[in-house]
Amino acid sequence: DWTMAAFKDQAIAKIRQQVGKGKVICGLSGGVDSSVVAALIHEAIGDQLTCVYVDHGLMRLGESEQVVSVFRDRFNINLVHKDASDLFLGRLAGMTDPEQKRKTIGGLFIDVFEEEAKRIGGADFLAQGTLYPDVIESVSFIGGPSVTIKSHHNVGGLPERMNMKLVEPLRELFKDEVRELGRELGLPDEMVGRHPFPGPGLAIRIPGQEITRDKLEILKKADAIYLEEIRNAGLYDAIWQAFTVLLPVRTVGVMGDSRSYDYACALRAVTSTDGMTADFYPFDMAFLGRVVNRIINECKGINRVTYDVTSKPPGTIEWE
Ligand code: XMP
Repeated sequence: DWTMAAFKDQAIAKIRQQVGKGKVICGLSGGVDSSVVAALIHEAIGDQLTCVYVDHGLMRLGESEQVVSVFRDRFNINLVHKDASDLFLGRLAGMTDPEQKRKTIGGLFIDVFEEEAKRIGGADFLAQGTLYPDVIESVSFIGGPSVTIKSHHNVGGLPERMNMKLVEPLRELFKDEVRELGRELGLPDEMVGRHPFPGPGLAIRIPGQEITRDKLEILKKADAIYLEEIRNAGLYDAIWQAFTVLLPVRTVGVMGDSRSYDYACALRAVTSTDGMTADFYPFDMAFLGRVVNRIINECKGINRVTYDVTSKPPGTIEWE
């Protein structure tokens, strides 16, 4: 009978057979699919694998550090952590249009990935976390205004340009099976059970305004508090995605005896099965009150918090 342990052994044998003594390169995003691909291929071929993590500076608090500590320190995987935040934030300066942000980030991502791939001397194979649903729907589903969900991690024409073959060991699996395989490989629960996170990262959670390091700092802090409270309340796994949006408006508040004039942010949490439709999560008010108190007390720069009760449709999950 079929077990994940047996699948893992078969997948490892197949990878060894396909790759031989060749070199494999794998783009890590911090997400479930690429993490599982990396851990699986590493178990199959060890140091023939190099992972490249392109850090665009738009990840959440502590996320990049977690990727490095899990893959480099714990799994001993050859990992290139490319901090490209100056490049990304420089190119995004002054940009407010959502589609332009996505195109800019997606294009830069491919450029930086290719540069790093060349720097390590290239590879014979490119590993990808293609899942069964991606295989059957040749075009993966559409998210946001005319955007393919995985646009950002899809490294486009790179395999052809660099003359690499593809290794796609998850092609037969559904998402829940990928998670089970990840656990089988010893990946930490918080990585295997992680909510989806968009490729353009926090850039699309600072809507309608210029992205700056200051705003990113404020947003990261508020978002970390929100997620921590969700985890502590035992609600993380009941929610499809939860995040904070930094709004392009300052509002008046009172802090002690003085007037404050700071940003407002919105909290979002939805349930969904595939991201195509979604319902807002019905938190109880005591929970929300606690989160709001913490954010306003602990995040300098935010003095007002709202909760988004829009479902999809008519809204989208992200704000832009
Ligand atoms: P929307 O906002 O369209 O999002 O309801 C549906 C799902 O897609 C994610 N999303 C993206 N993922 N690049 C990505 O990799 C993107 O540009 C992008 N836009 C939205 C969103 O987080 C949700 O899971």
